[in-house]
Amino acid sequence: MSQASVVQCPLFKTDVIQIMALSADRIAELTLEFAEKEPKYIINYALQEFDNISVSFSGAEDVLLIELASKVARKLDKTVSVFTLDTGRLHPETYQFIDKVRAHYGIVIDVMHPDADSLETFVREKGLFSFYETDHHECCGIRKTEPLKRKLATLDAWITGQRKDQSPSTRNQVPVIEMDPTFSSPNKPLIKFNPLANWSSKQVWETIRMFDVPYNTLHDRGYISIGCEPCTRPVGPNQHEREGRWWWEEATAKECGLHQGNVIVSDADGE
Ligand code: ADX
Ligand code: SF4
Repeated sequence: MSQASVVQCPLFKTDVIQIMALSADRIAELTLEFAEKEPKYIINYALQEFDNISVSFSGAEDVLLIELASKVARKLDKTVSVFTLDTGRLHPETYQFIDKVRAHYGIVIDVMHPDADSLETFVREKGLFSFYETDHHECCGIRKTEPLKRKLATLDAWITGQRKDQSPSTRNQVPVIEMDPTFSSPNKPLIKFNPLANWSSKQVWETIRMFDVPYNTLHDRGYISIGCEPCTRPVGPNQHEREGRWWWEEATAKECGLHQGNVIVSDADGE
């Protein structure tokens, strides 16, 4: 089955239906074909296939995506588009790192912010730390998911740093390519590439060190998975990296809306 999207005809300025190059069947084929491929191969395919594509960068070890995408883009004579969601609650080290990455790779990083009115109302009514009393979903909805939705509405495809080993209870089925399970619609298909899905944390870090890729200094202080400052803490020996995120909540709830489709897939499988 082909996927269709509505685009504007540049000549007549009317809406026309564009048939997407990647049908659901083709995505299934590619998932199999890419399963054993190196991340750079997948990124190469993604950048070749899509012009309107962007890397989502959280300011953590997903910097490896930027390293690989920059190399691939240079070969293809393209520029890498990168965006980050500034929740307003990141660590100072993360802000410094995002800016370091911008300068190091000579790229533009599109920094997305929450809607000011929604955030002001939320903070006025619930305060700055309501997530400790209820859960993180409302705050993440305003600070992360809504700005992400706004960004994704402008794209045909995006690239994330999700990996299966980041969260056994929610990410163990993440494919390297998928029709975005959360933000796609029949009128606006959105392809999601997860080139690191089958890589381990060890492989990511070996490659970061091998290529001398800059990294967030929080990683030198026991942080493995890095999100917002109030919702992230370092983990101890034998703790899984995800235990440092939203530690007061159930492991199965630890998706913030960016990758909520993972939870739906896990639930359907009875996990
Ligand atoms: S989260 O949903 O739990 O916060 P996680 O920190 O594991 O996600 O990161 C997985 C991937 O989601 C990142 O590699 C990145 O592609 C995307 N992501 C997470 N947080 C952000 C952010 N603040 N800005 C942009 N992308 C993000
Ligand atoms: Fe809010 Fe915490 Fe979610 Fe950041 S991670 S948006 S501070 S609930």
